[in-house]
Amino acid sequence: MGWVASLAASPSLPTIYATVRSTPMIVSLKSPLSPLEEQIKGNVTLIVIDSCDLFIFPNATFTHYIRNFGIFYILDPVAAVGEAHHTLRPGGTAALTMWNINGALDLIHRVQRHLRPEAALWWPQEAEWNRGWTLRDVLVAGGFKEEAVRMIEEEEWTGPEDEEGLMNSFSEDYWEDANKATVSGGEREKWKNAVRECLSEGEKESGGVRMVAWIAVATKAPD
Ligand SMILES: C[S@@+](CC[C@H](N)C(=O)[O-])C[C@H]1O[C@@H](n2cnc3c(N)ncnc32)[C@H](O)[C@@H]1O
Repeated sequence: MGWVASLAASPSLPTIYATVRSTPMIVSLKSPLSPLEEQIKGNVTLIVIDSCDLFIFPNATFTHYIRNFGIFYILDPVAAVGEAHHTLRPGGTAALTMWNINGALDLIHRVQRHLRPEAALWWPQEAEWNRGWTLRDVLVAGGFKEEAVRMIEEEEWTGPEDEEGLMNSFSEDYWEDANKATVSGGEREKWKNAVRECLSEGEKESGGVRMVAWIAVATKAPD
């Protein structure tokens, strides 16, 4: 949604339909307290709908379809891509992202193993999603021609850029569920110390974690 808001704030003011299945997501975005609320006014319409059945949009409506680190949450990703394909205009572009290397989750898993080796790894990623060809195959199964799908890999070390800040950011509330799944009672101090011990040399030096993304850019065949 942050990405949607930045697009909405761009000078060319595209018309954007932001769709999601979960009502709370939309409610929080529409909240007058939301920092995004001002930016998304005007040219963004928020709709609660299942991405696998975009029945409210006619065929060939959109110039672009964007799904940023979201396709792997959808139970039927091929159906979602099928909907992207039929709502795109001929020549339109779909851009979807997926993690190749998720350094943040990798650090969390290292911390979990350090604290309790037998702990079930939190939010285990479906291994096949980490391979670029899964994303490509889903796009092709959803209707895009194989030769019209371009896979791009982008790497970035991301974080607060200092070791202490990185340790603190991986000890925040956001990771509470992983903490609780590992240490009974989710003791914060124990978790924080483990994060410190588990940081790799690269993470200490950069104050960030290594994230490598797959970006799939697919063009719908012109008529
Ligand atoms: C981690 S968020 C990523 C959102 C993202 N930035 C994007 O571009 O889609 C995953 C979202 O997918 C939504 N979601 C999962 N299955 C869905 C479906 N079948 N239809 C619509 N939204 C769905 C969830 O409600 C959640 O808000």
